[in-house]
Formats: sequence, C-alpha cells, structure tokens
Amino acid sequence: MESLTNEPAALGQRYGIARRLTFAEMHGGTVAELSHDGARAIVALQGAQVLSYEADGHGEVLWLSPQARLGTGKAVRGGIPVCWPWFGPHPQGGSHPAHGFVRTQRWWPVSTATSTDSTRIKLACPAAGEGHSAWPHSARLELEIVLGQCLTLFLTTRNTGTSEFALTQALHSYFRVDDIADVDVLGLEDVHFIDQLDSGALKTEGGAVRIAGEIDRVYQGLTETVTIADARRRIAIQSRGCTSVVLWNPWIDKSARLGDMGEDGYRRMLCLETANAGADVITLAPGESHTLTAIISATSAR
Ligand code: BG6
Repeated sequence: MESLTNEPAALGQRYGIARRLTFAEMHGGTVAELSHDGARAIVALQGAQVLSYEADGHGEVLWLSPQARLGTGKAVRGGIPVCWPWFGPHPQGGSHPAHGFVRTQRWWPVSTATSTDSTRIKLACPAAGEGHSAWPHSARLELEIVLGQCLTLFLTTRNTGTSEFALTQALHSYFRVDDIADVDVLGLEDVHFIDQLDSGALKTEGGAVRIAGEIDRVYQGLTETVTIADARRRIAIQSRGCTSVVLWNPWIDKSARLGDMGEDGYRRMLCLETANAGADVITLAPGESHTLTAIISATSAR
C-alpha cells in the first residue's frame, strides 16, 4: 500500500506475474486480470469487485451490467460487489449508503502469488481503517481472490480498534444464467427465509426454487452448498463463515427503477449472495478477526 499510484504499468511492475497477472484500464478504472490454465478473472481496484470469472470450459459465470462504469461514485452493478460493514439499508436508515461504504472505495494490492494450483491477489481497503460516520470503528479489511479450479474469495475483517463492533456483510454475487425461466436453485429446500418483499415474514418452501417474479430473500441457518442449475451448466456456491444466503432478482419493475440493469438484464442474472445477514451478525472484540468465504465452481448441466 506504500505505492498509491493507480497506474497499471507501475502496479504491474510491483505486483504483476508474467502470463498470470497483469493490470489494465477497463470500464473507466484500473483492473487486475488473473489467469490460470483456462480460467480467467477480472478484478476492479474500486471496491475489490470481481467483474468477470470465466471458468475453464464453462464460459462467463458472472453477470455484469452493460452500463458498468468505474469511478462514477456509484457502485457498479454486477460481478461480486463487497457489501461491508452493513448489509442492506443502514439499521438507522437516513442517508447512509445501502450495503455499507466500501463498494465505491479504492482498494490496493497487498500481495500476489502463483503456483501450480492457483493465481491469487490480496487487496486491502484503507477506508475500513478510518470507519464511517455511520460506523465509527476501525478495521483491517482484506479480500483475497484465488483463481484455480474454482474461484474462491476470502473476505477477512480484523478489529483494529479499542471497542467491540458488530458486522453484517455480503459477497453480493451476480451469476449469469441463459434464461431465468429455466433456472432451478437447489439446496434451499425447507430452509427458513426472511421474505424482504413481505414485511420480513419468516417462511419456508419445499423443492427447488424457481424465479418467476421479483424475489428478495435472506435464507437463515444454511450450511449446505447452493447450486444454480440451468440447461447448460451448474454453478455451485459453497459458503464458509456464515449461515445466511441472499437470493435476489429485481424482475421488471424494480429493474426499471434501478436504471442500470440493461435491456432484459433480469432474465440473464440471479444474485446468490454469501452473507452474514438477518440474525447472522458477527461480533468482533478488539484484535479478533473473521473470514467470510465463497467458493464458486461451474460444471456441465444436469
Ligand atoms: C440485495 C438486497 O442484496 O441487493 C436487495 O437484498 C437490494 O434488497 C439489492 O435491492 C441491490 O442493492 P443495491 O444497493 O446494489 O441496488
């Protein structure tokens, strides 16, 4: 973090790895491009947001808005935004940004490495150390992104302050699907969820989840892998360090209100977010740390 330049060439000199990890300008900002065998990932330094993950032989796994633009002061829609240190609206409401304050912050590389198994980059968010008017604490926040057979994200928070704090968060993954009408979400059968579209009512549903309208659910008490299955492939998401998963699709009317979903974007995406949300709150005493992990893999269809 000593070098605060965002020049891709300077970053490449310091953190680049020949044929495995380079820096470039893309979508109006600086990105790291990782490759490993046939897999590829693109990570924006703004928000440490993974924008693209091409799994070896299975194509692009993530959905990204066609209007994605870095450096506008607004969070980019798509890929894997990091929501931290609160998930959803701030508990006290007001003008505080939804999903915390690090999505639009500049993160910096801390280390990069490659081996026969993976190519990896670790990024840190200096703004987390300074806190926020709505979250007056100090933390070291790092995201390590590991590209190998799978894409693995480790989001680690260490309390560097002098008092305890509470934390909710998410790796807000936007997955790409060919057609939402043909998607089964597996692994959520009979798991309790908070229905955010029904005043937070607690519900369960048997069988695979099908999406045929707006959906906004926080599943609670989950420990299993969740799979997005469509005609072409299965995307499996394993989560560690949490017991909640958020399922979200804005459908037609909310997409129009959001304004950055693109033409029929809602048909091509589904958010399945590895999260500490709802009753799944992390509390850290000074010096303690916690890691939220998402392991994402793609295989051929059903
Ligand atoms: C989801 C929430 O995680 O994110 C939704 O459950 C929210 O309620 C969605 O609308 C998108 O949030 P944002 O801030 O990126 O528009």
